[in-house]
Formats: sequence, structure tokens, C-alpha cells
Amino acid sequence: MLEGTAPAARQGPGALRGDLVRYFEEHRKLVEAEALTLLLTAPEPVLLARRLIRESGAAAPFVTVGMVSRALWPPAAGNGPVVSGGGAPAAPEAGPTPFRLVAEGFSAPTPGLRPLEAYGGLFRDRFRALKRILHGRADLRGAVPIRELRGREGPASVIGMIREIRPTAARRHLLVVAEDESGAIELLLPKDRPAARTPWILDEVVGLTVRMPRERGRLPLLTGVVRPEVPALRPARTAPSARRVLFLSDLHLGSKSFLTESWQRVVGFLHEEGPAPEIAREIAHVVIAGDLVDGIGIYPNQERDLALHDIFEQYAELARRLRELPERLEILVVPGNHDAVCPAEPQPSLAPEIRTGLPPNVRPLGNPATFALDGVLVAAYHGRSFDDLIPALPGASYARPTEVMKTMLAMRHLAPIYGGRTPLAPLPRDGLVIDPVPEILVTGHAHTYGVDQYRGVLLLNASTWQAETEYQRMRNITPVPARAAVVRLDDLRVETLNFEPERPVLSRGSAG
Ligand SMILES: [Fe+2]
Repeated sequence: MLEGTAPAARQGPGALRGDLVRYFEEHRKLVEAEALTLLLTAPEPVLLARRLIRESGAAAPFVTVGMVSRALWPPAAGNGPVVSGGGAPAAPEAGPTPFRLVAEGFSAPTPGLRPLEAYGGLFRDRFRALKRILHGRADLRGAVPIRELRGREGPASVIGMIREIRPTAARRHLLVVAEDESGAIELLLPKDRPAARTPWILDEVVGLTVRMPRERGRLPLLTGVVRPEVPALRPARTAPSARRVLFLSDLHLGSKSFLTESWQRVVGFLHEEGPAPEIAREIAHVVIAGDLVDGIGIYPNQERDLALHDIFEQYAELARRLRELPERLEILVVPGNHDAVCPAEPQPSLAPEIRTGLPPNVRPLGNPATFALDGVLVAAYHGRSFDDLIPALPGASYARPTEVMKTMLAMRHLAPIYGGRTPLAPLPRDGLVIDPVPEILVTGHAHTYGVDQYRGVLLLNASTWQAETEYQRMRNITPVPARAAVVRLDDLRVETLNFEPERPVLSRGSAG
């Protein structure tokens, strides 16, 4: 028997079952009921589901019990499960667990590769991951490898990575160079086409509709662009209980500009000593989206802005501040570009020597990380790529980070541009691809605050706890500090809390 999304979500004992059905459906696969049951016994079902999608290819519409069984226990490996993470298979889930890690962006590098080979592997993985999402779109049904366009005439479509965009000599039109694993093609995009008004981002993977010329020597015409996108009709997954999550970012402990007084108001609020104790009482998780400390040597003359000049002292201060929060909270932290981890993205989680002093209710994760809180999928990404995407997107600014996050979702990628301000790690898996689509995407880095929606995904940019620094003044960034978003997990409603001194704490609605 094959299951569709809705019946499985209704019949399944836990939210994960419904999540997996929907995940397969987003990739145009139908999963057998028995296959699903077996999949739920794997230690990391979502990673195994992703592997099954990748290995079954576009031509296989079904995921069968045999496929799952072979993935779990390949004949050569005897009877033990082989999915990453190891250990004994877990029992099928009876309901949403408070925290479940779905995927961290960071993965172990392949040893022994030269940098060029390693980057080749990274971009191949990105291309294949996004091609799987694009395949099957109505306007890309007949998409062919770029090499096969040679000698064709008339309309055709391809899936390619954008290698170059430049204006023609007379600056009247655009030239777009796209490539796939078979070759590259230069396309002419006339200025009056709707596609010329779309922002073009280097190294993103898109579908392209083209018209191949009759006459030799003429350039093929680019007639349309299809982004991987978030499916338009996505019912949001919500939790059965009304527990809440507090979203924070960019604490910058160790900076002279850390907002101690505002932080004390957060501490008081979470201990139910503020004006909205009924909200504080229901908060079960705190998510902090990076720049936990200010770091050392991150920007020119940073030492003038530092109160603590030793990185270990900065993390000791972080530990002290997090211990001020109620022990019952689960605190999930991802690093940012100011943290003492490798700056290339995806970043690993905090190293053992740094995390050792943190209280036991703090769970360090990599950047980005996707996890489920009471069954609701959250993707947390610090947001370094704002530094590359804002200059690339007409009209974009740090004051409106959620507009940039919409482009990330449309591209299904958090940081596509190679060679800009966001260093990319040459890992075998592109952990910056957005897959699966979360219910909540949270970022920081912009030091502003934003709440928005995009195709059913709640977008949050989670403010900062650092006042304006001289460096930000120079870069014309005006922070919106001391805001926090509280999200109810049963209906994804957002409340904005303003912890600036002399301000009312709670302002219901979207912006603070
Ligand atoms: Fe920051």
C-alpha cells in the first residue's frame, strides 16, 4: 500500500512519520507504508530518507521496503545498521520528542583531496541536490544536459549553476553563463524579458528555459528562470502542545557594548518576574543563532571594543550568562562568524575545550543546523551570507533581513556565492542546501529584527544584545538590539519582546 501525505500524517503515531511522508512527496516519491515503518527504526531517519532519494534517482517514483532494508543492512555488511551515527536502531517514535536533530550542515571533509578536487565535489553535490528538487517542474519536464543543446533549434530547458552574469557591450541586455556536469552555455537575456528583472545570484542552481537559434552564430535566448523554491501548498506542521520557543541571536559576550541591563531583563522575564509570566512559563527552548561571543581579531581594531581580551574568558562569561537562565530550558546554540570555530561554512559546533564550561542544558550545534522542537522543524543559520546577498540583491538591506531570507528559500540555499565574504568549506556534502524545508528559519548577523512569512515558512531575524559599535557606524549598520521573538509551537504565532530599558516588554505582532 502506498501512503499519501495526509493519510499518513493522520494515521501515524508520531509527527516524524508525517514529516517523512511529506519529505518524500516534496521529492515526488511515494513511500510504502512498510518502508516508512522500517525507516522510522533508523537512528537518523531523515538522513537515510535523503540518501534513499539521492540514490533512487528521478526515474524511480516509489520507495519500497526492499530499498530501505538494503540501505539499512546492505548484503556485504551483515545484519548491522549502517546509517551514519551508528548504534542500535531506535524504536518507532510515539510522538514528537522535545528535541530531535534532523541535520547539521557540517560534515566531515574527505581526507587526502586537493582543494580544487574538494571544491569540485562540493559544487557537484550542490548541483545534484538542487537538480533533484527542480526535476519534475512543469516547465522543466524535458530538461536536458547542456551538452545536448548543441545542434538543437527552438525551445528547450536545462538545469544549471549560474557561473557568470554580465551586461552586453552596449549594456542593453544581459549575458548569462550557466553550467552543468556536461558543459556550459552562454545565453542572451534581453532586457525586456521578465527574467531580466529577477535577481541573478552567482553559483545558485536554477532551471532555465531557452530558445535555441536557427541561424548559426547567434546566441541562444534565455526565456525564463525557475528557482527550486518552497512548494506553494505546504501545510505547516505544528506541535500538539502550546509550548514556546524564545529566539535570540548575536550576544557578543566579551564586547564592551554587551547590553547587560537588557540581558538582566531577559533573565528576569524567563524567571517569570517580568510583566508576561504566562508566556515565560510556557517557554521550553531557547535558540541562539550565533555570535555567542565577540571573538578576537574579527575586524580591524576590534580590541578597542573588547571588555574581555581572552577568548576563553569570553566563553566563560557566556557560560555564566546562560547559567542565569532557568535550568528547565533547553538552550540550542549555533556558532557565528565571531565564534571560535572554523569560519568556513557550514561551521562545526563549538569545540570540546570551549563547550566544556557551558551548563548542561546547553546543546551546541553546527551552523547551520536543522532540528525539530516538539515536532516543528527549525533551521538556524547565523546569516553571514547577508554580506554577499545584500549587495547582490537590488534594494536589499540589513534593515530588512527577512527579504533576503525569502531569496534564500527560493534558491533553497543559504549561501550560494563562492569567493565573496562568506568562506565556503570544501566538504563532500553541501550542507547549506535548504532541504528539508523548515517551518521556521531563524538567522542573526544583521543585528536588526524581523518577522515575516514566506510560503508558509516563518522567518525570524533575531536581533542582538550588543549596542552599536564604531565598526557598525562605519559600515552604516543601525542595530535594533534587545528584541526577542517568542513562537508558540502549536500555531506558530509570534510575540515580540522588547527588553530595552524603559520600554514595555511585550509587543504582540510582527515587529518590535
Ligand atoms: Fe553579530
